[in-house]
Amino acid sequence: QNPVRPPSGGADFVVVANRLPVDRDTSGDTPQWTTSPGGLVTALAPVMRENSGAWIGWAGVPDEEIAPFDVDGMHLVPVTLSAQEIINYYEGFSNATLWPLYHDVIVPPEFHRAWWESYVHVNRRFAQAVALEAAAGATVWIHDYQLQLVPALVRALRPDVSIGFFNHIPFPSVELFAQLPWRAQILTGLLGADLIGFQRPADAANFRRAARALLSVTSRGNRISVPADSEAGTEAHVAEARAFPISVDTSALDAQAREPEIIARAAEIREELGDPELLLLGVDRMDYTKGIRHRLKAFGELLADGLLDPEKVTLVQIATPSRERIDQYQQIRSDVELSVGRINGEFSEVGIQPIHYFHHSYPREEMTALYRAADVLLVTALRDGMNLVAKEYVACRPQEDGALVLSEFAGAADQLTQAVLVNPHNIDGLKAEIVRAVAMDPREQRRRMRSMRRRLFREDVQAWSQSFLSELEALDADKDRTSAI
Ligand code: ADP
Ligand code: F6P
Repeated sequence: QNPVRPPSGGADFVVVANRLPVDRDTSGDTPQWTTSPGGLVTALAPVMRENSGAWIGWAGVPDEEIAPFDVDGMHLVPVTLSAQEIINYYEGFSNATLWPLYHDVIVPPEFHRAWWESYVHVNRRFAQAVALEAAAGATVWIHDYQLQLVPALVRALRPDVSIGFFNHIPFPSVELFAQLPWRAQILTGLLGADLIGFQRPADAANFRRAARALLSVTSRGNRISVPADSEAGTEAHVAEARAFPISVDTSALDAQAREPEIIARAAEIREELGDPELLLLGVDRMDYTKGIRHRLKAFGELLADGLLDPEKVTLVQIATPSRERIDQYQQIRSDVELSVGRINGEFSEVGIQPIHYFHHSYPREEMTALYRAADVLLVTALRDGMNLVAKEYVACRPQEDGALVLSEFAGAADQLTQAVLVNPHNIDGLKAEIVRAVAMDPREQRRRMRSMRRRLFREDVQAWSQSFLSELEALDADKDRTSAI
């Protein structure tokens, strides 16, 4: 592709993600924008405001051509996806090929050439949008597995900009990644960035290893020598690949959890649940990677074994609706609902219900009240890039009580080392660790929670975006010196 000229009046800082930070809600009479309050928005909103930033992404609905607009100091540039592209690019290649492949093939990934073609088309559309939006010499920060071709496409179109990429999900071992028929194109796409960020050092190492093994590039430490590509129209450069574990806005969550209304709502939640002695909580997107079935199995067996008493213990399981047209997501929902129904059927009495299950989204205040109400949070992911829920729970425990049961297969386990770490595949081990967390001496709980909170106050989401962007800036300053390593 031929380079394009920088636009006049473009943005100095451009975020590119599959979704905009707001969603188009078309359920009422007049369509409205609702904020999608994820960690990414919290992390990037201040940087966007300071740098007259633009955010390029999909508005979450099919076929709507929407003109760019401004929200809360951010310039939003919608990218249109057709109904067919939602099927092929989003539900297909992104979420039925890449998602399972990158999460250690918990379910089998599907490889379809039509899905790949759609992925290429949509990635090109995002790259074109960047080329038209970024000011000369701008910083462009591309996010996640849906857009892995965008870095090299942007480099070809706009060699003047500085390009960062952050992968929010795991990067698999080369043995699994090598299954992907388009593995070389994906690696080449990512290597178009100057800086490629991952959640865990192991993900970054997997990526560097895949690049060496499958593209025969050379690397030293975190740096990879990327040769010129005459077909793509890119010059040789050095790309750095390393870990930048994402985090949460710890002080904002901590402050919210201390608000009298939140404390009152937390007490009310417990009361409405029948004042259990012990409240366990699970919060996940309804996704097969989250290990919800394993958690329910362990909980059900603990009730059956008499190690947890349904008169005293309640589990609240929140499972947000997600990717609902994909077969595997329909399957996990019906498995979870069957399991909840069975356990409740077996152990409920009048006025006693061991599991309260909710398939909804909640406002942030309600999530904070739930975290504040729960004695133990159960995170049993089979594989998870980070798992922000675990970090949110810790941030919402200002009294330093409560216990976190955390899967060692979630990226968060690298930082929250004082959690009760579990292998969710080992049901007996999981049961034993849940019992340990439940019975943990309050002083021990406090010691662990305090240490995890200290770390999260230091390593919050602001520190994450600052460290990524300052490394990108340093690499940019060094660029002329390092076209090879
Ligand atoms: P993933 O990115 O795979 O969904 P994370 O745990 O990293 O998993 O992030 C999930 C985010 O979604 C968290 O910020 C969490 O608070 C939020 N969330 C999860 N369930 C709900 C829900 N039912 N209502 C509102 N927010 C939710
Ligand atoms: O990080 C994982 C991720 O796929 C994000 O890209 C996305 O914001 C979130 O999970 C929710 O998924 P989706 O956009 O498919 O609803």
